[in-house]
This record gives sequence, C-alpha cells and structure tokens, in this order.
Amino acid sequence: MNRPRTSVRAEAARALAPVLQGQASLNTTLPAALAALPSRDHGLLQALCYGTLRHGPRLQSVLEQLLKRPLPASEAPVHAALLLGIYQINEMRVPDHAAVTETVQAVRLLGRPRLTGMVNGVLRNFSRDSKTLLNRATQDPAGEHAHPRWLIESLQQDWPQEYTQILAANNQPGPMTLRINGRRTTREAWLTRAREAGIEATPAQSPDMAVKLASAMDVNALPGFTEGEVSVQDAAAQWAALLLVVEPGMRVLDACAAPGGKTGHLLERAPDGTEVLALDADAARLARVEDNLQRLGLPAQLTCGDLAQPQDWWDDRPFDRILLDAPCSGTGVIRRHPDIKYLRRASDIPALAARQAELLAAAWSLLAPGGQLLYATCSIFHAENREIIEAFLAEHSEASSLTLPETLGQACGPGRQILPGEQDMDGFFYALLRRSSA
Ligand SMILES: C[S@@+](CC[C@H](N)C(=O)[O-])C[C@H]1O[C@@H](n2cnc3c(N)ncnc32)[C@H](O)[C@@H]1O
Repeated sequence: MNRPRTSVRAEAARALAPVLQGQASLNTTLPAALAALPSRDHGLLQALCYGTLRHGPRLQSVLEQLLKRPLPASEAPVHAALLLGIYQINEMRVPDHAAVTETVQAVRLLGRPRLTGMVNGVLRNFSRDSKTLLNRATQDPAGEHAHPRWLIESLQQDWPQEYTQILAANNQPGPMTLRINGRRTTREAWLTRAREAGIEATPAQSPDMAVKLASAMDVNALPGFTEGEVSVQDAAAQWAALLLVVEPGMRVLDACAAPGGKTGHLLERAPDGTEVLALDADAARLARVEDNLQRLGLPAQLTCGDLAQPQDWWDDRPFDRILLDAPCSGTGVIRRHPDIKYLRRASDIPALAARQAELLAAAWSLLAPGGQLLYATCSIFHAENREIIEAFLAEHSEASSLTLPETLGQACGPGRQILPGEQDMDGFFYALLRRSSA
C-alpha cells in the first residue's frame, strides 16, 4: 500500500510554524502548502490555518497547561500541529478521535515519529478535560480575547470604551466584499446577474458600489470578474475613491499604490483622461497593480520608486490630488490577516508612525496649491492616525483638514475612524487635507 507523503494537517503545520514564530506572513508560507495538496483540500487547509491563527493565543494558553515543558524552537511544526489539533477539537466540527488521529499522522509525516506518543497524549487529555482547560485559559486576557497582551493593552488605551468589541470583531472572519465597476454596470444589474448565477449577494450598507457575498467564493466564478465589472475590496477601503474627488484635467498621485485596489477604483470614478501616476516602492507588488488595471481596462502610469525620494522619479509637475494609503500596522484588518497577531510587536508602532510622518511630508511637497491629499491607513491606533495628522497640521500653516461625511465611522481628531466590524467593514482611518491656494 502506498503511504501518503503529505496531508492537509502536515502542510498546515508547515505553513503555520514560521508564522507562529513571528518570522513570516501566512501570505508567504501558504503558497507552498497549497502547491503540495490537491485543490479539493485547499478550502480545508485555509480554514485550518486562518482559524488556528485567529484563536491562536487562546489555544496556546491551553497547550501550555498540557505540556510539561515547552517544545524547543526546532520543533515548531509539531507545536503548530498541536495547536491545529486543539483548534479542530474545540472550534471545528471534526470528531475528537479523528482530530487526534489526523494530527498524530501529520506529526509522523513531518518526520517526527518519536513525538507521536506525546501528541496523542496531549490531544486526548485536551479532549477529556477541554472545559476546565479552556476556562483556565480565559482567566488570562490573552486567552480570553485570543490576542497578544501588548495588543490588548494598546487597544484598551486608545479605545477604552470599544476595545472588547474590537477584539471580538477581530476574531470574526470578514465577509467577501466586492466593488462594482460603475463604468461597466450598475450595482442592481450586477446583483441580478449574481442571483441568476445562484450567488447570494446583497448591497452593503455603504458605500454606493459595495456588495457583500453570503459566502466566499473563487473570484473567477464571479459574473464579469475577468471583464473588470467587479473587484474584491472591503467596503471601508472603497471610501477612499469617494472622498478624494477628482475633477476633469486633474493630475493624481496614488503614492503607495500596490496592489492597486484603490488605483483601480480611483480610475473607475475619475473623469475620462485623468492622468494617474501609481507609485510603489516594491516592484513585485507594483506588477499586481498592472494586472489589476489590465483586467479593468484602465490606464495609469506605473512607477517603481520611493515616495520619500521624489528626485528619483518625479518630473516636478505638482499633483492636484494625492492618495497616501500609508504602510501601517494593519490592526484594522486582523479579521482578514490573523497572522498580524504574531507578526507585529509593540515596538513596531512608533517606527511605523515615524515612517508615516516622513511619507506624509514627502507627499505634501508634491501637492499643488489648492490641491487635496487623502491620508489613509488600515490601522486603528491613534499614533498612526490622528496623532500623525495633528502633528502635521501644527507644523504646516498652509494645511487644513476638510470635513468628512458623518456616516463614516466616528470623528477622530482631524479625521474619521472606522472600527473593525462597524457596518461589517474593516478598520480604517481617513483624513482629507487641503493645501491653501496662496
Ligand atoms: C497599504 S499598502 C497600499 C495598498 C493599496 N493602496 C491598495 O489599495 O491596494 C502600502 C504600500 O506602500 C508601499 N510603500 C511602502 N513604503 C513606500 C515608499 N517609501 N514609497 C512608495 N511606496 C511605499 C508598500 O510597498 C505597499 O504596497
């Protein structure tokens, strides 16, 4: 009989091990795991990886009670397999005995036959006593909220009223949200086609072109996807192109453009002939902007360059509109990227804030008098959002903040903050700045 060379659980453990050690994102480890498995297993692989990371700090707290001593770093894949096992027993509808057997088999496939007895024992002990172990795990904030302690404390500091709601929202997977291309169709017409194709979809509460799917699906099966009628984009991110209003003849800079979600939306809404320069420092990510724009059939000038070094790429012609979707902690999108719980450290936040302030100053120097700059992040920390804008306004008398719609999240200093889960959106911050004409 042919022995299987790998399994979904073994591949999930391989993909998770570097993520749990804070060394790689799931986006970088998942492709190898997907490639090792037949496509029928891809859904389960993703459910296991995302679910285990989402509940990870709680599962870890349970595991620590079950292990006599922590596993060494060299056994990271076995550690990941144990968390996967606990996750399946606790959160998935996998019968306990199957979760144990499959995990033991995965550990064997990972080349660790001598640890199968320990894994078997740990998972059986969990299955026998799960209620007590989970109760004990939730005595600690990290176990209770399934977030690292520093993140809980920072959120509590910035959002003392809302932080438990934020933590709960981060632990719920976000919906698959689409943006309908108003150049090609209407939201109603697309919804009718989706219904006819048996896809359950509803208009999102806001903004105007957002559609929520009842369940995630392959983009290629979406009506009109290859023709650019529809794109995948969270509703919060769709606000950018509504807030930065482009008029005929304007020159627009999308200053941190890749992978191009907002570039495409800006172009969908902008008058014909609008000149858009999509800049990004990362060449590989910029290639994705090209793919996205090709699918949408919309043109932009793509430039690989550092926003903070405009002398390397700028032609000295100021921009009338600038979108600065700054690199950030991603703390507003943890529900979509639960690996952020493992990849971010408290010390990242001041470093990111310094970078954001530098990029804002660089972008501002490219803005024409009377022009507007939209600052955006998918962070929910004040240090990356309102404090950046407040400090900038204090230093730049030629800058003022413009009022944003009251329906958009809540006022937060000179901008507005959407918290994760609000109207089923990702967490996002926006501030719109105007440069005086003089
Ligand atoms: C939040 S992402 C942008 C997402 C994009 N706007 C979208 O909607 O698809 C931030 C981007 O900033 C880019 N970036 C970071 N530092 C940069 C710099 N100094 N100059 C230009 N781009 C930069 C990163 O490569 C990354 O693609």
